Amino acid sequence: MFSHLIKNSIKRTQMHPFGFRADSTTSIAWSVSADGGGQGGRIVVGAHSALDAGVILRANGNTISIGRNSTINPYCMIHGGGGITIGDGVRIGPHTVITAANHIFDDPSKPIYLQGESEKGIVIENDVWIGSGAGILDGVVVATGTVVGAGAVVTKSTPAYSVVVGVPAKVIKMRIQ
Ligand SMILES: CC(C)(COP(=O)(O)OP(=O)(O)OC[C@H]1O[C@@H](n2cnc3c(N)ncnc32)[C@H](O)[C@@H]1OP(=O)(O)O)[C@@H](O)C(=O)NCCC(=O)NCCS
Repeated sequence: MFSHLIKNSIKRTQMHPFGFRADSTTSIAWSVSADGGGQGGRIVVGAHSALDAGVILRANGNTISIGRNSTINPYCMIHGGGGITIGDGVRIGPHTVITAANHIFDDPSKPIYLQGESEKGIVIENDVWIGSGAGILDGVVVATGTVVGAGAVVTKSTPAYSVVVGVPAKVIKMRIQ
């Protein structure tokens, strides 16, 4: 899956001056789009991690931090909002959407787009595998060792070493007793 990746983090850093920093060992496809979003927004990617084709990172003025040995597969969208921390040894399947923000819609007399957003942040701890096409919503902690099934929508924090599937995601088993 990563045969076409180019190790060129120095060039990518030059192409994306808006708060993007990657380790020199990070593999980054040319079609990755990364933007800190101004106002101190930044994106940091650790050693031996990989961003595959079509990955979009939008920090929206906050921080997206990706640890070591983590791979973000094609066409994932990571939308910073309240900030996103992704740990070490994480695998995120293609077409996953991680979005650390919600539109506020309390007042039905006002258009939703004028009501602002709430932003809590998302943490994906170490050694997590997220299957393809999953959605990770704001305020969630995906705990160490969690497996998220393909197509799951994770609306609540997961127990460490659980396997969660479905919409909304529910625990179907534990990987440890
Ligand atoms: C979750 C997953 C890892 C399987 O885990 P598992 O522990 O082996 O689970 P099982 O296959 O034993 O399935 C257990 C139950 O969950 C259901 N299930 C499994 N994966 C599911 C999913 N993604 N969504 C909904 N239900 C799912 C099964 O149908 C089964 O239901 P049943 O008990 O009613 O028959 C796998 O199904 C999956 O989703 N893999 C992701 C693949 C992928 O996206 N790869 C991209 C590579 S980065």
